[in-house]
Amino acid sequence: MSKGRFITFEGIDGSGKSTQARLLAAYLKAHDTDVVLTREPGGAPGAEDIRRLLVEGNPDRWSPETEILLFTAARRDHLEKTITPALQRGATVISDRFADSTRVYQGAARGALRDLVDRLHNEVIGVEPDQTFIIDMDPGEALRRGLARQSGEDRFEDMGESFQHRLRDGFIALAKDAPDRCHLIDGARDPNEIAAEIARIATNT
Ligand code: ADP
Ligand code: TYD
Repeated sequence: MSKGRFITFEGIDGSGKSTQARLLAAYLKAHDTDVVLTREPGGAPGAEDIRRLLVEGNPDRWSPETEILLFTAARRDHLEKTITPALQRGATVISDRFADSTRVYQGAARGALRDLVDRLHNEVIGVEPDQTFIIDMDPGEALRRGLARQSGEDRFEDMGESFQHRLRDGFIALAKDAPDRCHLIDGARDPNEIAAEIARIATNT
């Protein structure tokens, strides 16, 4: 049985998830919480190796089916090595992306593969976050932010703005489907204002 709390951040590329995950981790740490800040794809050595296969290179490097298997393999490693041990010791785990990203990116935006995504999730992952913050924002603006970083990890950003519009719609639909778990957050504001809203929700104050 896990004693800790599992919080995830989701949204399109460049929406400000990583920034907000970091700010929430810092806020909770300042209030004496044991926090593990992690990310997907990645978050454990093996999963980080798989990450490089996924985020670098040509946009059509993998078929949608292969991509689902790679993301799920990385998630299983992340869960075994990082998330589950931390939750068992009572830590708060904050992950920059988790299974909702696969549901939206692979399940909704790249072919009608949601059923495969759900079956694999149930078979080998089987964990849902306690709370998910979906940072919502205009894809044009988010794309400009993301590409400005020049991280060399732009395989998904390179799929273009209409792809990002489909993703945004997918995340909004997901928030409607799981309203108890998901909080849709307006990301087109000052980062500190967004962080304050998220901290209020996360600490129920
Ligand atoms: P993501 O993890 O969703 O890709 P990041 O947190 O890395 O997004 O942010 C992408 C870029 O936008 C970064 O350069 C970051 O400094 C900047 N940024 C993040 N949040 C905001 C915000 N609320 N307003 C303006 N710029 C932001
Ligand atoms: P990430 O590093 O979070 O990118 P960004 O900071 O630009 O948002 O994730 C890398 C890419 O992988 C991102 O474009 C989203 C994609 N992705 C999926 O397609 N499926 C998944 O299950 C996950 C976790 C990420």
